[in-house]
Amino acid sequence: MIKRSISLISISVVLSLCACYYDHEETLYGAASNQPCTDTVGTVSYVQKVVPILQTSCYGCHTGSSPSGNQLMGTYAADKAMAQNGKLMGTINHSAGYSPMPKGAAKLSSCRIATIKKWIDVGMLNN
Ligand code: HEC
Repeated sequence: MIKRSISLISISVVLSLCACYYDHEETLYGAASNQPCTDTVGTVSYVQKVVPILQTSCYGCHTGSSPSGNQLMGTYAADKAMAQNGKLMGTINHSAGYSPMPKGAAKLSSCRIATIKKWIDVGMLNN
């Protein structure tokens, strides 16, 4: 009996260590291109996963009273609208017929693009 609970405890210790390891990895490397893409797992959080990407690569030009190209971003409603009209994926994928974004910078990593795509595919939750 005692032996059994000890092994249960060690299993949970091992499991929680694993969880910490992966959490940590995600925090450290996030959507970096040379790391496994863990950000697309499960329901992609708008606040935790999508906003940081857009903040880094888009909001600098597309927020405020006169956003570039008259394309407003930076709120859930605005980002969702851009996702729904197809321009968000079109521009970051460098699809034909769209102006490639982020303007004047390298294309987003495939993990970042996949993260945004997953958020859209799951239904653009405000989470
Ligand atoms: C350095 C400034 C800058 C950054 C950063 C930037 N944009 Fe733009 N964006 C512009 C300008 C200027 C235009 C208007 C001219 C054009 O279309 O190229 C534009 C146009 C757009 C358009 C309309 C283009 C079309 O084909 O309809 C969309 C959508 C857009 N940006 C989305 C984004 C997204 C998403 C990001 C981040 C991944 C981003 N932009 C980053 C400057 C920027």
